[in-house]
Amino acid sequence: MRVLSGVQPSGILHIGNYFGAIRQFVELQRTHECFYFLADLHALTTVQNASQFRGLSRDLAAGFLAFGLDPSKSVLYRQSDIPEVTELYWYLSTVASMGLLQRCHSFKDKVAQGVVPNHGLLSYPVLMAADILIVNSNLVPVGKDQKQHLEVTRDVVSSFHTTYDCEVFTLPEPLILDDVAVVPGIDGRKMSKSYGNTIDIFGPEKPIRKRIMSLVTDSTPVEEPKPTEDNALYQLLKVFAPKSETEWVEHAFREGGTGYGTIKKRLFEYFIETFGEARTRYDELQKDPAEIERVLASGAEKARRTVGPLMDSVRSAVGMR
Ligand code: TYM
Repeated sequence: MRVLSGVQPSGILHIGNYFGAIRQFVELQRTHECFYFLADLHALTTVQNASQFRGLSRDLAAGFLAFGLDPSKSVLYRQSDIPEVTELYWYLSTVASMGLLQRCHSFKDKVAQGVVPNHGLLSYPVLMAADILIVNSNLVPVGKDQKQHLEVTRDVVSSFHTTYDCEVFTLPEPLILDDVAVVPGIDGRKMSKSYGNTIDIFGPEKPIRKRIMSLVTDSTPVEEPKPTEDNALYQLLKVFAPKSETEWVEHAFREGGTGYGTIKKRLFEYFIETFGEARTRYDELQKDPAEIERVLASGAEKARRTVGPLMDSVRSAVGMR
């Protein structure tokens, strides 16, 4: 079973990225053949400032390594180092349905936020399909927001096979864990860089603490019972804490007498407990950018070797060779 997934280097990793995806990446590398990459071409659809863009891939790679992605177990690479991905993207573009792309939630969501859409934003899922199909991946661990993009990938596979009367691609399945499918941000909506509601994992501790303490809650007085439904603080604690703790919080909220501030402090403690080690490793890795480049270069070499045979079949199927 081959696993593949990617993360956009479009800012600091947040806890939604970790629980929704990267934690599963680390687990899966023990049992599966894994390919994990920095989706830098995708990030260009939103980060369009060269000096800001430079360095973001290195930061994300440091994050991958700090969390325990191991270059001796997984192939770690930068999307733009594999030119075959953009070649495949074009072949797939010619069979991808415009209507399907226009109906994608993430595209519609960006437009609704007032972003003037460029073609890259519309064809974003086709580039994703190329990422996924190019290594014949079976399983794609992601958060729920990517589910529809996986459906586009599957649709593109079927369309390509029908158009060229062939069977060159493996049909991939998403791997989405229910309890972390949508990690909420500090305002209760899905945690997302584009909503500005993230809790970052790396960077100085003080602003992170402040961020957690600023989590939006209702105005129920301390002594009153508090809801657990639609309560981002409770949902976030649930993502971090063992069952015994969440049961205690449920009880405390039901009874009243425990303020939201107390639980926010607990959440910060869990944050440090969960990410303390990775945060230290991240700072160390940042001191050695040459080592990060070496890891990515070696990963790119392995990935390019892997994609060769599939690309030969695709070129042959369309009549390029
Ligand atoms: P990106 O960079 O937005 O996010 C990386 C991963 O984190 C997950 N995630 C979340 N999961 C749960 N709750 C949240 N609040 C949350 N926020 C983010 C995302 O679902 C994702 O799994 N298009 C992808 C990158 C990509 C890709 C691919 C992924 C490019 N090509 C091929 C898989 C396969 C993206 O924007 O992820």
